[in-house]
Amino acid sequence: MSETAKAAVTVPSLRSRKRRTGAVPIVMVTAYDEPGARIVSNAGVDIVLVGDSVSNNVLGHQDALHIDTDVMVHHVAAVAQAHPHCLIVGDMPWMSYHLSTDEAVRNAAKLIRAGAQAVKLEGGRARLPVIEAIIRAEIPVMGHLGLTPQSVLAMGGFKVQARNIAAADALLDAAKSLEAAGCFAFVIEGVPDVVGAAVTDAIGVPTIGIGAGRSCDGQVMVFHDLLGLGSRTPPKFVRQYAEIGRIATDAIAAFAADVRGGSFPSDAESYHGSAELGEALS
Ligand code: KIV
Repeated sequence: MSETAKAAVTVPSLRSRKRRTGAVPIVMVTAYDEPGARIVSNAGVDIVLVGDSVSNNVLGHQDALHIDTDVMVHHVAAVAQAHPHCLIVGDMPWMSYHLSTDEAVRNAAKLIRAGAQAVKLEGGRARLPVIEAIIRAEIPVMGHLGLTPQSVLAMGGFKVQARNIAAADALLDAAKSLEAAGCFAFVIEGVPDVVGAAVTDAIGVPTIGIGAGRSCDGQVMVFHDLLGLGSRTPPKFVRQYAEIGRIATDAIAAFAADVRGGSFPSDAESYHGSAELGEALS
């Protein structure tokens, strides 16, 4: 995919990208560091999400509850070093926006100063005051509804949400209030496809689905799932496009075999001193 002059992806350019108006679906992929962001950008993706899933995909935790704003700042800054063509969205980690609106705005600003161009946070109506305060500080906010991984303990596991009419209605209501509060888009995760479709239909900003069916205005996928780099068995909604983990393991095993067998480094892979130096040292 080319790196040629591509218009920058901005919040205003994304806000109206609804498929029902004929818009091309939005593509969002996570990245947590400079090489990852470079790959995602060169692939022509619209949004690079520096997800709090860095906690499980990179730092080895079971869930996203083990990282704070400083960790996210570190990874947003690394992604920004790639100067991606995509919009950089920084995820607000658990407890960075739960205590007070002032603290939430300050933490959102830290992600912006690290290089994010928008922030994402999880939750429905309970988060409206925080979302409004962040937007008042001129920071664009992406919402996140449905299976919200930061609620894993409250949900009793990573379970598909909004399976009954009451829960689906509550999700629809939350989506409308997030739109009214000014979110420019939101992620819908882990809901039945009919719920993803109903929410997408009901609102005027784009929905970006992950395990939310085919009707969303865009799709997001985790870098490590997409490339086969993770250790977990991927959930049903993952389509794995490569087996980079296996390729990398084979490459490193080949290096180890070459070192142990004495074929690495070769003469061509070594620096050579003058004959005089060789003689003096022998
Ligand atoms: O952190 C993350 O990777 C996410 C995506 C699953 C949307 O929030």
